[in-house]
Amino acid sequence: MDERVEVTLNINGEEYQLEIGKRWTLLYVLRDVLNMTGTKYGCGTGDCGVCKVLIDGEPVNSCTYLATRAQGKEIITIEGLSKDGRLTPVQQAFVETGAIQCGFCTPGMVITTTALLRRNPNPTREEIIAGLDNNLCRCTGYVKIIEAIELAARRMRGEA
Ligand code: FES
Ligand code: FES
Repeated sequence: MDERVEVTLNINGEEYQLEIGKRWTLLYVLRDVLNMTGTKYGCGTGDCGVCKVLIDGEPVNSCTYLATRAQGKEIITIEGLSKDGRLTPVQQAFVETGAIQCGFCTPGMVITTTALLRRNPNPTREEIIAGLDNNLCRCTGYVKIIEAIELAARRMRGEA
């Protein structure tokens, strides 16, 4: 049996004190312990990006990240992005441009985009494509997703 350890995790601005398995992934803790199911489970091997969360502002695949390692860091999931029930500019742009079809990749895409635009508020199309390198979408062909990111970036710069 997996050895149990006590951890304190800071998720979306709240502290959670939990007893967890030493080898449990952050994704498992989010979805199966805390019932935060906005973060999706796809491949489980770090290849598809649907499980992305922000850890200290960086997008990370939570399916290959041990929960114990996340102690002392700021974890933001898709549930923690919007404030007061209002969508973020990135979320709004995904909705408006039709960048969501089945929606399974969307939380991971939004998390990655949020970090990308904080780091680079005016990305070129090539930089956007490179930024989505670890996020797979089986539905959209990426065209609408790229449009959404460009729209969000323009709005966040006050140009649209
Ligand atoms: S579920 Fe984590 S990268 Fe696919
Ligand atoms: S919208 Fe279906 S996987 Fe991206």
